[in-house]
Amino acid sequence: MTQQPHLRFVTLLGSLRQGSINGALAKALPALAPADVNIEHLGSIGEFPHYDADIQSAGFPTPVTVMGASILAADAVIIVLPEYNYSVPGVLKNALDWISRLPNTPFAGKPVAIQSASPGALGGARAQYHLRQMLVFLDAHVLNKPEVMIGQAATKIDVQTSVISDVTTCNFVSSQLEALAILVRGRTRN
Ligand code: FNR
Repeated sequence: MTQQPHLRFVTLLGSLRQGSINGALAKALPALAPADVNIEHLGSIGEFPHYDADIQSAGFPTPVTVMGASILAADAVIIVLPEYNYSVPGVLKNALDWISRLPNTPFAGKPVAIQSASPGALGGARAQYHLRQMLVFLDAHVLNKPEVMIGQAATKIDVQTSVISDVTTCNFVSSQLEALAILVRGRTRN
């Protein structure tokens, strides 16, 4: 029996700050992924300028083209984001606006999973549904379930060690990564 090649997932982080709980969640993912999945982290979206069509006309900024190429080359993208004011952080919207203008449309047909963590009870659920709406226009194939929305995240994720101490949360995250791998494998079969 021939062994299937490993899948390559990349994480896109919607927070810029050093002590980000969502950054810790992203870092925890490789240890929770199926054995045949490698997970790498994309660069910071903080390197992107504010979207401006005049800058675009002069040439896409390098951080945008580099991230676009990494997304294009990946089997799937996991967007890990905080919720800001019941929605998506402006920096993430800005990054998606830039990437959406790239001529090679990196998100078109790309399998995507979404995760969010918050000190609040709902775990960023409202931001996830705004993000899903944006990803429709980008023509991404967003995984429906399981949803990973981690409430009271500070009690479940250690920001220093990037370890998720809550077993139920670990299981949810693992099952989502497994579902994403199944989605990717299903599309590439034959
Ligand atoms: C927040 N926070 C927040 N949390 C939430 O659950 N729903 C919300 O609507 C908001 N709104 C909000 C707006 C702004 C401007 C800030 C700075 C914060 C709290 C937020 O979830 C918390 O700060 C997280 O720790 C941010 O994620 P990172 O940076 O730790 O990953």
